[in-house]
Formats: sequence, C-alpha cells, structure tokens
Amino acid sequence: MKTIKLGICGLGTVGSGTVNVLAASGEAINRRAGATLEITHIGARRDNALCNTAGIKVSRDIFDVVDDPEIDILIELIGGTTVAKELVERAIKAGKHVVTANKALIAEFGTELFALASEHGVALRYEAAVAGGIPIIKALREGLAGNEINWLAGIINGTTNFILSEMGTAKRAFEDVLAEAQALGYAEADPTFDVEGIDAAHKLVILAAIAFGIPLNINGVYTEGVTRITPADLSFAEELGYRIKHLGIAKLTDAGVNLRVHPTLIPEEQLLSRVNGVENAVLIDGSAVGPTLYCGAGAGAAPTASAVVADIVDIARELAADQLPQIPALGVDADSITEIDS
Ligand code: HSE
Repeated sequence: MKTIKLGICGLGTVGSGTVNVLAASGEAINRRAGATLEITHIGARRDNALCNTAGIKVSRDIFDVVDDPEIDILIELIGGTTVAKELVERAIKAGKHVVTANKALIAEFGTELFALASEHGVALRYEAAVAGGIPIIKALREGLAGNEINWLAGIINGTTNFILSEMGTAKRAFEDVLAEAQALGYAEADPTFDVEGIDAAHKLVILAAIAFGIPLNINGVYTEGVTRITPADLSFAEELGYRIKHLGIAKLTDAGVNLRVHPTLIPEEQLLSRVNGVENAVLIDGSAVGPTLYCGAGAGAAPTASAVVADIVDIARELAADQLPQIPALGVDADSITEIDS
C-alpha cells in the first residue's frame, strides 16, 4: 500500500483529537483509505504530551511543516484567518493537499483559496468546518445532489446550544456554562464568535454556498447571538410550550436566498427543540427527498477529528488510486450563482 504522509499544524482540541483518532483506529482507517496514513510532522507552538510520540517530528514554527517536502496532506487546525490563511496558501502553492476545520477561513476567504487550489491541482477539504462530527458537507454536496434545496435550518453552534440547554434545564448562569464550554474545548479561542452568532454565520454561508450555489458572503447574513437571552426568556418559552434555540436559517425565496442567524422559538413537539447540549442538528428540505435531519456532536475533540479524518481518507483514496482530486470545492457550478438577499 502507498504511504501518505500527513503534517498537522495545531495541537489544540481538534489537532490532539485528530492524532488520537488516527492512532485509535489506524488499521481500519488505512483499509478505507487504501493507503497507509502516517503523521510524520506536527507543528505546535506549545508543548503537549503528543509531541513526544515516537516517529513524529515536531516543529515550533508551523511553517516548517508546510516546507517539509515529504508531506502530502497538510492539516490546518490552528484557527484564525491570518497565519492560517498564509499557511494554507503556502501549502497549496507547494502542491500539498489541504484539510482544514477552519470555518472562518473558508467563509471569508474560501473563494480565493478554492481558486488557488484548483490552479495548483490540489484538494482543499473542510468537512469539520460545519457541525463538528456530522458529515453535513458530504450529505449536502453528494447525498442531496439530485435535489433543489428549498431551505435549511439548524443548530450549528455547539457552545450556544450547550449554554441555552444548561441555562434552561439546570438553571445555570450564562457565564458559568460558557466557562465550562471553554474548558471542554467546545468554544472558539475568542468565544465572542460563538455567543454573538459569528461562528454560526460562518457555517451558514458555507452550507448556503453548497446548497444554493451562491457566493460565500459573510456580510449577507443577519447575525444575532444569545447574549440577550435571559433565564426568564427560557422559562416563559417553556411555559408556552416552546424552546429557544439558536438557529442558522437559509431559505430560497423569489428575491434570492435569505440568510439569518438568531435565537428562535421552536414548538416543543418538533425534533430540533429536543436537541440539547453540544449536539448540532440540521434540517434540509430537498425538492425530491423532502425534509431530512442530520444530528450529532457539533463540537469537541473526537467528533471534530472524525470529520477531519474523513477528509484525509477521501484525499488519500484518490491519491492511492493516482487520481487528482475529483470533488469540486463547493460542489456548485459557478454558472448557477445567484445574488443573496438578506
Ligand atoms: N465553537 C464551535 C461550536 C466549535 O461551539 O460549535 C465547532 O465548530
């Protein structure tokens, strides 16, 4: 079997999770990939027990991983849009395939990065960027390829769902639950992104680009977070037979695609109202299939790593078969682009 060498940049929650998932299920993963996947180089600014893994080179300067000629697939897990963008661009220009979990990077700079990847004939995959461990990108791009998408709506930020669930059921304070979400590795490095709805907006534009063939446009999303939701709001909602959930909604209208992220009252008998904790859930209404629901862990080390590894396996399969990346970046035809109306 061909050996495919992996370079991981970032050894935080998702980076450590990826190393652990690959180590725990290596044999099965290699079988599915049709290749031997080997992490040979890690770039981590801080020390971590995984840095002592035998056979893996560790660099404090993450750019050393990109510049390592042995690496076939670079896995960007440092987050942010400055150094991460530079890293991904350099990797693509060096002819390396890239896997990222970085929703901000894809939502804000995806258009230029996909063009660069296409120019250099490499893959840029991002399954872990939306809804953590739920394979929602593949479901939307591949599983629902036979449908026109009418609308999609979902809980796409685990931290805010954890906060609203714990405030509602255990009557805990917002700050207390947010601190726990940070300790559990659910929240963004800057949790403002979670609680102000920015992270959900990043994810929504990615889903909408695939679903409707519209450009990635973060400025086209009405964005409201959960910071103004009080325990009293949650109690009143419950008394009236509703739950408050923070949703991302994309809907095709006659005027274009409407994109919005905000707290929403959901009747308690609907499935989305029963999705609690760090779980995410996305409902997608397709013209042929009707509504379908995708539910699972939306954040955290192992679930997010599950999606990162799925992308690595996809690329490895193609490399093992000596094929260039086959799947288009967003799964959309550029000619189908329509304007966003928000
Ligand atoms: N901070 C994100 C969330 C991580 O809570 O959903 C997963 O994207």
